[in-house]
Amino acid sequence: MSASSIDASETSPLSSSVSSPGASSLSPSATEALPRLMAHRGLSASAPENTLAAVRAAHEAGFTWVELDVQLLADGAPVIWHDATVKRCSNGHGRLAKLSLAEARRLDVGTWFDASFAGERMATLDEMLALIDTLGMGLNLELKLARGRDPAALAEATVPRAMAMLPATRLIVSSFSRSALKAARGLEPDPTRLRLGRLYDKIAKGWETEARSLEAFSVHGDWTRLTEARARAIKAAGYRLICYTANDPEAFAPLWQWGVDAAISDDPRRFCGRLPDAV
Ligand code: G3P
Ligand code: MG
Repeated sequence: MSASSIDASETSPLSSSVSSPGASSLSPSATEALPRLMAHRGLSASAPENTLAAVRAAHEAGFTWVELDVQLLADGAPVIWHDATVKRCSNGHGRLAKLSLAEARRLDVGTWFDASFAGERMATLDEMLALIDTLGMGLNLELKLARGRDPAALAEATVPRAMAMLPATRLIVSSFSRSALKAARGLEPDPTRLRLGRLYDKIAKGWETEARSLEAFSVHGDWTRLTEARARAIKAAGYRLICYTANDPEAFAPLWQWGVDAAISDDPRRFCGRLPDAV
């Protein structure tokens, strides 16, 4: 498949444009539309998740947005990493939050996935932002708060850096942590300058109150736990609706009709040719 056939650029017909007025204070024009697909932790089906290699793979496959997780090391350095420990995705062990940057960078974070990625290093937020900027991509940056960690410290160490590197239309800061999002909003009160996405497993009853108080751009939820009624309510209120982690395009198909804007997928290539022309 060619990259052009799956390009989800902001002007692509495969993009989602939303203009319904509502509680969201953003009224994005069609040129600011989100892509239909975001590569989860980079193209994590083809490369070790949350690495520079995974982002390059997403770009090479024609995708314009990635979702990545960010956490802080013991010395406060922000790195792109999902788990609370380094066991699953490196040749080391122990808690991420106990490592210094020097220790974290000694780990091999590629071989666990495939020998061809041997020597891949844990990406710092700064080097990841530089790559995304160079590639002209968009980033859904998930503030991943490990147990016992300070949400304000996470927001302070990450959000200003991301905002300095990427234009507002190519950045969404998302989190399951309301405190982290609140701290992020405190750093940038203008919702047109910082787009926030509230993440849920199952989108909770109080989503609208939270979205309004955060001046959120988007609401994100587990697609298997989303109901049509909730999807339609979120869209009627003027928010973007983003679902994770969708790897089965056939099962996911009805959700486009409900108004879902974008799917975050480990392998968005599966959706190629299976996106709605218009919804
Ligand atoms: O941002 C959506 C998704 O990444 C949330 O779950 O555990 O994969 O970070 P997780
Ligand atoms: Mg994530």
